[in-house]
Amino acid sequence: MRAPTFFASTVGKKIVMAVSGLIMVGFVILHMAGNLQVFEGAARLNTYSAFLHGPAGEALWLLRAILIIALIAHVVSAYQLTVIDRAARPVPYVKRELQAATVASRTMRIGGVVLLIFIVLHILHFTTRTLQPAPLAEGDVYDNVIASFRIWWVTLLYVIAMIALAYHLYHGLWSSVRSLGVERGRLNPFRRPVAITLAFIIWAGFTIVPVAVYFHLVS
Ligand code: HEM
Repeated sequence: MRAPTFFASTVGKKIVMAVSGLIMVGFVILHMAGNLQVFEGAARLNTYSAFLHGPAGEALWLLRAILIIALIAHVVSAYQLTVIDRAARPVPYVKRELQAATVASRTMRIGGVVLLIFIVLHILHFTTRTLQPAPLAEGDVYDNVIASFRIWWVTLLYVIAMIALAYHLYHGLWSSVRSLGVERGRLNPFRRPVAITLAFIIWAGFTIVPVAVYFHLVS
């Protein structure tokens, strides 16, 4: 199958969604592990951040480029699949049957939009510091994290966003495996319990940071 035909097909779009999603999951795991260094103190977290922005600067830009392409591919395919899905059912059911799959894919769309808004606000918050819920300084990631999550509504927004992330990851991980066609027999590594466990670890690893800062367990 030629590339344009592949991307135009529903299966092709689902594979693009799955691969781009898995790339972003890889980033999310690394980012979560990086954030947990907040528990090792200011020096550790700030040195890590300075390394990313200094000696590893070129690798950081490469990672950023890969992530931006993955995010755009993910969002565009999701949008196109939604349009295809709606076009296939031009007349809404009079009595709409709420099948599990319908509810899940609708929740995925809403959750995806929530996450997209979160990512934009998050970069404006910590990376560009355009949004400053508290005064934030360049190069002092540790103090910026502490100052931000001492504010209840900032912590609350992050906690809510991480719930959206966990659900999106759980369902996405589980369905991506079907799209990639690896669900065969008992060897499927992403059966539901594995997807739940991974989503839970990522949720807990992210959520613990703002919550611990808010309750002064980190200072
Ligand atoms: C409680 C949850 C989170 C916390 C505390 C957090 C914290 C941070 C901090 C402090 C930075 C700035 C790092 C630096 O400048 O050295 C950052 C950057 C970033 N975060 Fe998060 N993050 C969280 C969740 C997420 C999630 C769920 C995503 C993606 C889905 C994400 C994506 C990013 C991206 C793309 C950047 C910019 C990296 C760059 O290009 O420099 N973050 N985050």
